[in-house]
Amino acid sequence: MRRRLVAGNWKLHGSKTMVNSLVSDVINGLENEARTEVAICPPFVYLQQADSLLTGSAVRLGAQNVSAEIEGAYTGEVSAAMLLDVGCTYAIVGHSERRALYAEDDDMVGRKFHVAQQAGLTPILCVGETLEERNSGATEAVVASQLKAVIAAAGADGLAKGVIAYEPIWAIGTGKTATPQQAQEVHEFIRELIRQHSSLADQCRILYGGSVKPDNAAELFAMPDIDGGLIGGASLKAGDFLVICNAA
Ligand code: PGA
Repeated sequence: MRRRLVAGNWKLHGSKTMVNSLVSDVINGLENEARTEVAICPPFVYLQQADSLLTGSAVRLGAQNVSAEIEGAYTGEVSAAMLLDVGCTYAIVGHSERRALYAEDDDMVGRKFHVAQQAGLTPILCVGETLEERNSGATEAVVASQLKAVIAAAGADGLAKGVIAYEPIWAIGTGKTATPQQAQEVHEFIRELIRQHSSLADQCRILYGGSVKPDNAAELFAMPDIDGGLIGGASLKAGDFLVICNAA
């Protein structure tokens, strides 16, 4: 049985005041922590503050990005060891915004995944297609090549031990969610692809992300291969995020 995971990706939002109130509201509002794992991914500079607020709670901490380098002359980078040091369990790698706006290619994402995992973090690998790719029938090919780059870097068992977030780019921040059936099809495809290379496919948690909201979370999470969600906008409002966590 895979344990559900709901992770909040705060993106470039937050302040010390907001971290204090949002983290406490999330901790106090969770109903079923044992069944569903919950994580929050604030910006780097607030990780330590969030970590102290999370002391004694089961809510996990994640980073939104991680360096592909271990240490050295890499101005502006934050390493996997540093993230562990400040209390992170997870690191998101390959979010579509990083791929599109910061030119992270499949090879770079594979290295980040591997470095994070080797350091002891659980990477959350984001994959997904653009609307154009979906309309031209290329969804599976795009997702497969994103997954294969990670298999090349970390092995298929490595991939299966991480978390995968299927996030169709056309659904991110647009209010347009994939239907549960559309999402399930891709999740099943991802699990089958892993199964071809690893015996751990059934353990791998595959999250859906892209305009998950309180009113669509339950139907998405009811699909057999959807093991939780990566939540952007709705993770910034404690009330909305809690409804989503409790739906899982
Ligand atoms: P969204 O973002 O929930 O705001 O669509 C999801 C994500 O980018 O992880």
